[in-house]
Amino acid sequence: ESTLRDVADEREFTIGTAIDPDSLRRDPSYWKTASSEFNAVTPENALKMGPLRPSRHTYDFRDADAVVNFGRENDMTVRGHTLVWHNQKPEWFQAWDYTDEQLRQFLREHIHTVVGRYRETVDAWDVVNEAVADDGSMRRTVWSDALGEDYLEEAFTWAREVNPDADLYYNDYGADEINEKSDAIYDLLEGLLERDVPIDGVGLQLHALGDHPDPDSIAENIERFRDLGLEVQITEMDVAFHADDVPADALEIQADYYREVVEACLEAGCDTIVTWDVHDANSWLRSFKDFGERYSGDPLLFDDRYERKPAYYAVRDALEE
Ligand code: G3I
Repeated sequence: ESTLRDVADEREFTIGTAIDPDSLRRDPSYWKTASSEFNAVTPENALKMGPLRPSRHTYDFRDADAVVNFGRENDMTVRGHTLVWHNQKPEWFQAWDYTDEQLRQFLREHIHTVVGRYRETVDAWDVVNEAVADDGSMRRTVWSDALGEDYLEEAFTWAREVNPDADLYYNDYGADEINEKSDAIYDLLEGLLERDVPIDGVGLQLHALGDHPDPDSIAENIERFRDLGLEVQITEMDVAFHADDVPADALEIQADYYREVVEACLEAGCDTIVTWDVHDANSWLRSFKDFGERYSGDPLLFDDRYERKPAYYAVRDALEE
């Protein structure tokens, strides 16, 4: 029987998964499922600034190397996630009384070092993650405060300087369909392109939490970004239900949602979908208390025992057509 990866390879589609390095080390089934069923990896946390920077002048690349090497050894492409984010900053940041210029130099060096280390091994970078707030305004973060609103331009330029070959992405959630937030992102990226900022694509995370994703709106949204000249990837997909309102046939509905998203992606010319980890037991919804209490914790293609779920077959069938 074909794996998801076989089917995706056959049509040159990228089907990826977020990867947790601890599971990779400790659980052979995790390793085996990830490498046989997917052809791309995204380190779920290991390349974020918090995990990477134990102190101001040091790096700890062990976890990131483990995931990147796993990907390379198994002929998978690698998405680097993420260089600039307001979340998961190092804890020591709180005690650092930096000047704006110090923070700017810190970020520049961080991007140069991290992108440089993985010049040969990371194919695409989420250079900036979640810079737009839910109402469409620019999110105020340490980065916008210190570097000014032009920090996106600088971050993309620094990444391009060290790796001219990697595809550079802007990545966000809640902007999968046509809505206020995706409109704002559209305007933002159009502005960056007009100023010749080196950006290649937009990542739509597609955490479907509680709502039925609207495939027509997703396709239309993908198409308008592609018309700007950007690539579009679905970068962190999962499908969960409101915890107090899980339908009896949740697994079938979940499969339908996955199928519809794959079809919308294919129809609109997107060639990459990444799910946000391999199996339900590793979903962020299981470990994130506030989200975990609000949503059902089984949003992925494989269940806790690595059995293929209806959603798995739905994705595979949609890719086989
Ligand atoms: O690894 C440490 C461990 O050493 C420590 O003992 C433990 C105690 O809290 O924490 C562990 O780190 C946690 C890490 O997940 C690994 O499990 C962090 O606290 C926790 O904050 C972190 O959560 C991650 C979250 O981003 C952080 O905001 C999730 O795994 C990850 O799935 C989630 O991913 C984000 C994307 O990057 C961006 N888009 C939304 C998506 C879902 O929130």
